[in-house]
Amino acid sequence: MQIRRMTENDLGIITHLEQLLFEDPWQRKSFEFELNRNRYSICLVLEDKGRIIGYAIVWKIYEEFHIANFAIHPDFQGQKLGTYFLEQLLQYAGNARYALLEVRESNLPARHLYKKFGFKTIMKRHYYYRNGETALVMQKIFEKKKTGT
Ligand SMILES: CC(C)(COP(=O)(O)OP(=O)(O)OC[C@H]1O[C@@H](n2cnc3c(N)ncnc32)[C@H](O)[C@@H]1OP(=O)(O)O)[C@@H](O)C(=O)NCCC(=O)NCCS
Repeated sequence: MQIRRMTENDLGIITHLEQLLFEDPWQRKSFEFELNRNRYSICLVLEDKGRIIGYAIVWKIYEEFHIANFAIHPDFQGQKLGTYFLEQLLQYAGNARYALLEVRESNLPARHLYKKFGFKTIMKRHYYYRNGETALVMQKIFEKKKTGT
């Protein structure tokens, strides 16, 4: 199992997985923008023996580490790989002060996962999704790193 940077060659499978996993899937051009144009973006895949098991897009914007997209392949869900991948992903936060994300209110597996990592709901965005569903804005504040002596 390894984590590596996403490339354009991955976008065929990733956009296919998006269709399977999300009600409002990102289009290929959105991933292309993240890969090629968005200087705040970190695009990663979780891979095992050449097979894409998961993927994530995060925006590192100064003090904020924003998880914009995060998913595990349907065939591999429920095996703690989401837990593993999120743990690894948070290592990329560097000096960010907090991590932030939006999640559908109905998405109990994801909410459970984020809660396990210390994310707390700080706000609700009503009618955020196309079907009118509410988004929960969840935040995890990082502990200050101890400096020097
Ligand atoms: C959310 C997602 C990434 C979780 O990945 P995963 O590999 O299945 O996660 P894990 O196996 O590590 O399980 C995470 C936790 O969720 C729990 N869980 C699984 N299904 C659940 C459910 N229906 N209700 C509540 N908790 C659930 C697991 O028990 C586990 O908690 P535990 O460690 O306390 O037992 C995956 O379901 C996914 O890709 N979903 C579709 C895309 C998505 O919704 N992404 C998030 C967008 S914000």
